[in-house]
Amino acid sequence: TTEIEWWDYDDTAEMGEALAGDVQFIIESAIDARGAAVIALAGGRTPGPIYAKLSKAKLDWKRVTIIPTDDRIVPMGDPMSNVTGLAKVFLPLGARVIPVVSEKADDYKAAGRAADARLQDFHWPLDLCLLGMGADGHTASIFPGPDLQEALTGPKERRALGVMPDPLPPEAPVARVSLSLAAIVSARALMIAITGQEKRDVLERAIAEGAGSTLPIGRVLAETELPVDIHWSV
Ligand code: 6PG
Repeated sequence: TTEIEWWDYDDTAEMGEALAGDVQFIIESAIDARGAAVIALAGGRTPGPIYAKLSKAKLDWKRVTIIPTDDRIVPMGDPMSNVTGLAKVFLPLGARVIPVVSEKADDYKAAGRAADARLQDFHWPLDLCLLGMGADGHTASIFPGPDLQEALTGPKERRALGVMPDPLPPEAPVARVSLSLAAIVSARALMIAITGQEKRDVLERAIAEGAGSTLPIGRVLAETELPVDIHWSV
């Protein structure tokens, strides 16, 4: 089990400010060390204030590549599309924003294989993976149940996979493409950002369960060798 540090904030604005600063520092360090930064950013509502604040940072954005940790299989421009949200914020700054879903595939497994094939030549490992978490313990789009089993048993070199959450989450009831567990835990830095007591309880349970956790976030924490910062706001 990894070393975990909790950072508590009074509101999401404060959390956004702090995390934007951390992400900026990671990007700057990666550019200094390797001439470029490659980061994966979570979808969902929670990171909105982080991205808004980060977009104000004075950075050499042309050297920054951003990929969503996961996406819903919907066309570009759809309100449920994570890459569309990231593109709106970061493309105008000059960053590269790479989709994980590039075509409308009816078959989510094929969409996952296509994403995996494209991502094989991507810049691994990621400099940062910023994860969110659902109240069911899902992270990126690795959901508890069969998705987690598939994520755990699939080939180690796989970078992405297609998933069909069961039950479908009400906020985006569609199939998805997610970075694989191996891709996530190989990142040079791992951060989790969540809000609310319910999610905090779930995350504490996942940590307590350790390596045998049935929650995807628990397996990420069990498999990474890095210290993980958990950012939490009421
Ligand atoms: C997604 C995500 C997902 C998200 C959680 C939490 O696209 O669904 O990347 O893993 O982080 O579902 O979402 P909220 O922040 O909206 O609660």
